[in-house]
Amino acid sequence: MFNKNNICIIGGAGHVGAPLGLVLSSKGYNVVLIDKDKKNIKSLNNGIMPFLEEGSTKLLKKMIIKKKIYATQNLSEVKKSRYIIICIGTPINSQLNPNLKNFVNFFYSLKKYLNKNHIIIIRSSVYPGVSNKVFEIIKNRCRNLSYCPERIVQGKAIVELPKLSQIVSGKNTRAKLESGKLFKKISKKIIYTGIMEAELIKLFSNAYRYINFSISNQFYMICKNQNIDFHKIRKIMRDDYKRNANIPMAGFAAGPCLLKDTMQLSSFYNHKFSLGHTAMSINEGLPKFLIKKLNKEYNLRKKTIGILGLSFKSDTDDLRDSLSIKLLKQLKARKIKTLQSDEYYKDKHNIDKKLLVKKSDIIIVATPHKAYKNLKISKNKILVDIWGFIEKK
Ligand SMILES: NC(=O)c1ccc[n+]([C@@H]2O[C@H](COP(=O)([O-])OP(=O)(O)OC[C@H]3O[C@@H](n4cnc5c(N)ncnc54)[C@H](O)[C@@H]3O)[C@@H](O)[C@H]2O)c1
Repeated sequence: MFNKNNICIIGGAGHVGAPLGLVLSSKGYNVVLIDKDKKNIKSLNNGIMPFLEEGSTKLLKKMIIKKKIYATQNLSEVKKSRYIIICIGTPINSQLNPNLKNFVNFFYSLKKYLNKNHIIIIRSSVYPGVSNKVFEIIKNRCRNLSYCPERIVQGKAIVELPKLSQIVSGKNTRAKLESGKLFKKISKKIIYTGIMEAELIKLFSNAYRYINFSISNQFYMICKNQNIDFHKIRKIMRDDYKRNANIPMAGFAAGPCLLKDTMQLSSFYNHKFSLGHTAMSINEGLPKFLIKKLNKEYNLRKKTIGILGLSFKSDTDDLRDSLSIKLLKQLKARKIKTLQSDEYYKDKHNIDKKLLVKKSDIIIVATPHKAYKNLKISKNKILVDIWGFIEKK
């Protein structure tokens, strides 16, 4: 039975799909979260978010009680929906090219359930041209395909979605207008663009952020080699000087999106995106730089190094492509004694942050979880605080 208030979200148990489904269900839509991850489906149906997402716990419970949302593995559920939103992953392979197989093949399995009234919305961050490729696969069954990229910062979708403008593009006017109508319910403003424009806007946004972070990381390395405090310099650069206001903090620029999307763009540009590649070598090279610098100054085989924070960014439990983990692995490969702690990601090797500080000779603030802000670290400890986050007491 086709219901115009029904929405199916594919990849609905993921970091983009689940919060989007919650926000849409809170606006009165009946939402079905479709995913192949059985564990996360079970967790969602039990009212437990599988990962940290601000404002999600209460909302999930409320929407389940109201019967506005549920999760399933059953793809045929899309038959009952008007809207089908695709939020599945778009990874890159070891050659840094997009691995499109899972994404594109999905549409071959979806095709048999489609009819001409469905509105299909791609929300994942895709290699430019992928939406057109998908259209060629499904056009005999349904021509209403739109591309409406997700632009939230991970973990804050519920807070951010109402505050952001939404880019909407489509293969036909119906797809564009119906998608615009849907997103108007949850976004501040709708901006209509062409499909390739929308695909590029998303990748440019992530590449731009990634390159920006690399600038500060490069400045940090220059300062570190001169034993100069980059954080002090950055503060002074921005003091009553607006042109420098946006210079980011130094720190690990990691996670499942920024590097991946910079490389999707690079692949699209025949790997001649030199700015993107330089940013990658700076950002990904930061852990090794820190180890080399410490190694020059200390006999690391005689030191214990404590890593504060394992997740890819602050105040999340997500380890995907975390540079803290890369740092930890590189230290272990050099047979250096390490201790590790994290506020959100649970691991049997983790110890409490205060104990880590007490037992380590060198403390590296790898992920600036808020809980570390007031940690007391005495002057006789060696503190490597890439983020300029903690004051020594
Ligand atoms: N994480 C973010 O903050 C963020 C922000 C903007 C855009 N994006 C983009 O959104 C997309 C999804 O990212 P994510 O972080 O939510 O990934 P994720 O891994 O958290 O979620 C993807 C989900 O899709 C499911 N899935 C994969 N293939 C499937 C299939 N064939 N059928 C059903 N389910 C399938 C997985 O099980 C998983 O639950 C990516 O393209 C990413 O670049 C992510």
